[in-house]
Amino acid sequence: MTPTHVTLVEVGPRDGLQNEAQPVAAADKIELIHRLQAAGCREIEVTSFVSPKWVPQMADNAAVLGGIQRQAGVRYSVLVPNMKGLEAALSAPRSHWPHEVVVFGAASEAFSQKNINCSIEDSIERFRPVVASAHEAGLKVRGAVSCALGCPYQGEVPLDEVERVVRLMRGIGVDHVGIADTIGTGTPRRAQAALERALKHYPLPEVSGHFHDTYGQALANIHASLALGVHVYDTSIAGLGGCPYARGATGNVATEDVVYMLQGMGIDTGHDLAALVDAGAHISRVLGRPPASRAGKALLMRHAQEAA
Ligand code: HMG
Ligand code: MG
Repeated sequence: MTPTHVTLVEVGPRDGLQNEAQPVAAADKIELIHRLQAAGCREIEVTSFVSPKWVPQMADNAAVLGGIQRQAGVRYSVLVPNMKGLEAALSAPRSHWPHEVVVFGAASEAFSQKNINCSIEDSIERFRPVVASAHEAGLKVRGAVSCALGCPYQGEVPLDEVERVVRLMRGIGVDHVGIADTIGTGTPRRAQAALERALKHYPLPEVSGHFHDTYGQALANIHASLALGVHVYDTSIAGLGGCPYARGATGNVATEDVVYMLQGMGIDTGHDLAALVDAGAHISRVLGRPPASRAGKALLMRHAQEAA
């Protein structure tokens, strides 16, 4: 059942950078995206079209999306919470459109209110026209289910609630669903249980895992999810990130760590690990701190020792 190929969706430029307190220049974000595609990333979440009052770091969304020198075979996606976001993402010439948009809901009522300022039911009604319009424009729609393994405000989140949101997303035509551990509290059995609920409503290729690594469980959660055959995961270069509405949560699992583990298991992702490590080191220098990726740090040290 373990897959032989895994698709990684690189979310560093969006999930990774959205929480940075200091402004990061659009040119630095674009440079990161160029390095990521050169390192073999074929799916990149590049920015989000959300309110700049809520998430100032993503206010340069149009400049970033429009500034990328696109590489053939790479798919670019953006987050959109509502029609205003979709319209903004599609206001550029077609050559600058994303290939995919991501709507983001939550399995926790409290988190839905904090993150997108509406109830779960209302969020689905906001997403409905987004999905229809995105499909009319020829774009695929992914849906993220935040707090599927736990909520920073409400704690435990019943699996039935996770399944309810998955079913609602399926009902409005969302093409692909991502089970998200927003605060990284989840452990492998719970990750499997949440994914199993998603798999009741979506075919295997249209289900993914999005695991933040706050409690150091993300690699274990991916390993457990692979056993179910799940073969799409969101990862973040250098382990960057967090969510502005999930205080204390760290970044997504580091892309370098996941690629290192999968290569060791003989599972192909199409990445050049050395180039990824360099991309992680580069953005970490821009941000003024070491990469959070364990494999990234170890490989950088090894290369420095070999060069000495
Ligand atoms: P609201 O205040 O309820 O929206 O925010 P509103 O419709 O009442 O509009 C209020 C103002 O926002 C208006 O401007 C709108 O024009 C503007 P004003 O008249 O006051 O000047 N506005 C917008 N501006 C730009 N782009 C838009 C947009 N929509 C309204 N799309 C809203 C609702 C959803 C907009 C707000 O709550 C928001 O932007 N939230 C963003 C939250 C966010 O980005 N969170 C992080 C990403 S999610 C995440 O990280 C989780 C994930 O990684 C998975 C996981 O780990 O769980 C995906
Ligand atoms: Mg996230």
